[in-house]
Amino acid sequence: MKSNIVLLGPPGSGKGTQGERLGSELGYTRLSTGDMLREAVRNGTPLGIKAKGYMDSGGLVPNDLIIGLMKEKISEVSGGVILDGFPRTVEQADALAKEVDVDLAINLDVEDAELVQRLTNRRSCPKCNAVYHLISNPPADEGVCDKCGSRLYQRDDDKAATVQNRLRVYRENTFPLIAYYEKKGKLATIMGEGTIDEIFAKVKEAVQ
Ligand code: AP5
Repeated sequence: MKSNIVLLGPPGSGKGTQGERLGSELGYTRLSTGDMLREAVRNGTPLGIKAKGYMDSGGLVPNDLIIGLMKEKISEVSGGVILDGFPRTVEQADALAKEVDVDLAINLDVEDAELVQRLTNRRSCPKCNAVYHLISNPPADEGVCDKCGSRLYQRDDDKAATVQNRLRVYRENTFPLIAYYEKKGKLATIMGEGTIDEIFAKVKEAVQ
């Protein structure tokens, strides 16, 4: 099995959903920069205070805030790691290459209209970070997390206006990483539309 895996793809393409399953079913440690930053914002840490404005507007948190944090988290992991949401710029990818060998970058390819539909219908758990979709993946009890019982919420950056900015920011900053990893012979592009199970079957095949 591949050890160090980067999940690429636009907002809403299913990085968190697939990354969580790779963790629970195949034993990878999943590191999500989005989850880390949201926790920092909730706890009002110095990082969270600096990051909040960028996140709320759908922009990227500056590289100098995120690269050091990820280096530290990666150094604490033993065994296979799934990087969800990092790298997001070429500068971050170059910094990552100095820390670990990336064995595989999985690019989840999803059309914009589907992304908007997924993000505006997403509900998230503030405690355990589980994600749901009001139509395709609802919780058993409306508004309540199946895993930990917390009340679900809609992320501020999942409101329609911010979603459009996130898609623009993705195209400008993160899309070039597809060519970056392709050039290194590490890229697997997976069509990210279909059921979560269907996509997970393709993801599993790519990592084995
Ligand atoms: P982050 O949390 O990483 O957001 P993102 O990359 O925009 O990704 P999302 O979490 O929105 O989507 P996803 O691809 O994980 O999809 P999901 O599985 O949830 O980052 C948030 C912010 O933090 C950034 O905007 C930035 O400000 C900052 N940040 C983070 N990392 C950074 C970095 N490295 N550098 C700088 N700034 C950084 O699925 C979405 C929905 O679709 C869910 O409802 C789900 O249930 C549903 N769904 C999933 N799969 C399917 C399917 N196959 N069919 C139908 N529905 C599905």
